[in-house]
Amino acid sequence: MANVLITGGAGFIGSHTCLVLLEAGHQLVALDNFATSSPESLRRVLAIAPPAAKARLRVLEGDIRDPLALDQAFSLGGGRFDAVIHFAGLKSVDQSVREPLSYWDVNVAGSRNLLSAMIKHHCHTLVFSSSATVYGHPHHIPIAESAPVQPINPYGHTKAAVEQMLADLASTVIENQAVAPSAERPPWRIARLRYFNPVGAHPSGRIGEDPLGPPSNLFPFVSQVALGQRPALRIFGADWPTPDGTGIRDYIHVMDLAEGHLAALEALWNGPAQMLTLNLGRGRGYSVLEVVKAFEQASGRSVPFQFVARRPGDAPWSVADPSEAGRQLGWWARRDLEEMCRDGWAWQRSHPQGYRSVG
Ligand SMILES: NC(=O)c1ccc[n+]([C@@H]2O[C@H](COP(=O)([O-])OP(=O)(O)OC[C@H]3O[C@@H](n4cnc5c(N)ncnc54)[C@H](O)[C@@H]3O)[C@@H](O)[C@H]2O)c1
Repeated sequence: MANVLITGGAGFIGSHTCLVLLEAGHQLVALDNFATSSPESLRRVLAIAPPAAKARLRVLEGDIRDPLALDQAFSLGGGRFDAVIHFAGLKSVDQSVREPLSYWDVNVAGSRNLLSAMIKHHCHTLVFSSSATVYGHPHHIPIAESAPVQPINPYGHTKAAVEQMLADLASTVIENQAVAPSAERPPWRIARLRYFNPVGAHPSGRIGEDPLGPPSNLFPFVSQVALGQRPALRIFGADWPTPDGTGIRDYIHVMDLAEGHLAALEALWNGPAQMLTLNLGRGRGYSVLEVVKAFEQASGRSVPFQFVARRPGDAPWSVADPSEAGRQLGWWARRDLEEMCRDGWAWQRSHPQGYRSVG
């Protein structure tokens, strides 16, 4: 049983990962300031988790930018965590263009603060939420981890900056006169996980994605149109160089993603000092029109749409090469588009107002 700090544990990916880790027998402290989430998600996690797991999750309200909150989290963890999984952050590309400093503050300064606390409390094992956004406009599809990191928006810049900070930490040199001239490195075990497009929900339909305000991702938008909360889906571009003219993305079920975190945690915890950089995607792309059709089938509702102009900065294709995660972690995404739509719809239908809905 590992003792793990989960920052941003109440969020979409964090809550599903807390559940998977509890089911695997780990002990967790979830630290979250609920800036973009609700504490209800973690109450639901406890309700779904096996009874024996309930005592293994503690929740602390606090901000990763506040060193005292981090000290408090470490003391709740008994002074020492075996590992940290770091989800806390802001994730909207559009908002990052309007408020870049908020993104540098939370995503970069917050991460730096967390790393300082980890060093202070002798924890050197970290799983970090990075993003396929770091690839910008990739030259080759599928995208391998060796593709250049060249983000094209402030959100992507902050993820790339934290990735660089972690690489610098992993190669820190410690002066050690006793073993001179060879230099020692601190025993960092780091996984930089580059997610593609997480969607869906836990099959119980009790936890799911709950965006604040109008969603910027396709799936919550499609769900809200299917529910009649929005009149139509706007599809940005019908003339991309793809088979049906709409953009293609690599969607990954959030439960597969959560299991990827469990695999990364266990690989690091049992493994040598190392830094892994891994794509977490399915390796299969779907167009916007394919998603609409699959969602209509899963929900039995129609999803009206209209084509509008392309958005500046969008790319026609983004599909992961996930084979390195398979090799390093023995992990592959297993759930298909039908399951993503079915589980996402089960959540949305029963929670039309997210966690503000009764149920
Ligand atoms: N969902 C995606 O499409 C996607 C894709 C790639 C990467 N990511 C990254 O994965 C991570 C989790 O994403 P998510 O989809 O679960 O988002 P989310 O918004 O649902 O979760 C983020 C969580 O972090 C918390 N948080 C934000 N600022 C904080 C702070 N200063 N201190 C403490 N907690 C704070 C929020 O309250 C929330 O619970 C983020 O770092 C995001 O950038 C997400």
